[in-house]
Amino acid sequence: MGCVLSYAKELFNMGESGDTPVTVAGSNTDGRTISETGSGPTASKTAKVFTFRELATATKDFRSKFLLGQGGFGRVYKGQLRNGQEVAVKLLDRSSQQGDQEFFAEVEMLSLLHHPNLVTLIGYCSERDQRVLVYEYMPLGSLDDHLYDVPVDKAPLDWKTRMKIANGVAKGLEYLHVCADQPVIFRDFKPSNILLGEGYHPVLSDFGVAKFGPVGDSNHVSTRVVGTYGYCAPEYMLTGHLTPKCDVYGFGVVLLELISGRKVIDKTRSPDMRNLVMWAQPIFKDPNQFYRLVDPLLPGWSIILIVAISMCCIGRKGSGLDKLEKKRESKRGNSGCAADTGRARETPGNPEVKTQPAVEERGEKLK
Ligand SMILES: Nc1ncnc2c1ncn2[C@@H]1O[C@H](COP(=O)(O)OP(=O)(O)OP(=O)(O)O)[C@@H](O)[C@H]1O
Ligand SMILES: [Mg+2]
Repeated sequence: MGCVLSYAKELFNMGESGDTPVTVAGSNTDGRTISETGSGPTASKTAKVFTFRELATATKDFRSKFLLGQGGFGRVYKGQLRNGQEVAVKLLDRSSQQGDQEFFAEVEMLSLLHHPNLVTLIGYCSERDQRVLVYEYMPLGSLDDHLYDVPVDKAPLDWKTRMKIANGVAKGLEYLHVCADQPVIFRDFKPSNILLGEGYHPVLSDFGVAKFGPVGDSNHVSTRVVGTYGYCAPEYMLTGHLTPKCDVYGFGVVLLELISGRKVIDKTRSPDMRNLVMWAQPIFKDPNQFYRLVDPLLPGWSIILIVAISMCCIGRKGSGLDKLEKKRESKRGNSGCAADTGRARETPGNPEVKTQPAVEERGEKLK
């Protein structure tokens, strides 16, 4: 739980983080152009370029037996490379709305950013109109597979494991926000983007909509609103002003899901319980009521501190989140975090169009 507390301390300016700074790769990019269409940035020398044939072979021609899941980008298959390494191969669905821009943004981001709590991009394929991403294979799948709709004969995630996951993803976020030369805002923090390795080691995945944060005097980046409904900070949805605090909000929501075992939007529940955050907010006001938030599968845990962290991440007033930026500055000044970072530029191609999405309780992507 150390990092949850450490990151929370950052948020509330309660003390120094004890975490060892992790460096950002990126200054050593080799300048290879990854785009055949000319729209892409440069790639890190760490991401391997695959041919489509190699990836078809690795997945036995994208056989349905090897399908791991499907998201907005397309289908994800388990594969095995010629050297024996197991991988997850994400194949862009050509009817996908996400497309090229997110593909190249993801390759760029994951080539620059390296941390034990971020997924490793092994390589990619950009051959003719094929777009494929190749990641390290995470054997336990994504967090939502473990948190929701768990079969009755399967034990629920225990409290210690839930906190281990929260701790790990907090470290990943802290790295993005604090250690990178320019803060990186993840923008799509949610259980399906938290992948789990052996021993429930969590990594953040899906960097297609991640964005470099504000620099200089500016305290936000203006963007069109993207993310997933339920996890997007209300301020961002209303104004399009993006800051690292938007990820902090998403972190608070996921923490609440870990505590309660409940989906952020659950249409199967009664109207007053459909929206997890709206349901929890009156309970946040009274610590004597906190027990109502706890997953009924996990009775008896003392959760006051964790609820308090979730509440402060989600709450908008008096949360002390403005101190995050100050903390970031002091950490960069005091540590080697920023010393070997090389890049400070925009994710390419995102039109800076500010729009206000229809706010509906759909749990859908805002894209
Ligand atoms: N590296 C990986 N290792 C193992 N399984 C993976 C990996 N990447 C993705 N998956 C599986 O594929 C599923 C789909 O992932 P994907 O990121 O495409 O969609 P999503 O996160 O569910 O939705 P969205 O498009 O909104 O992000 C995941 O839920 C997970 O089960
Ligand atoms: Mg995902």
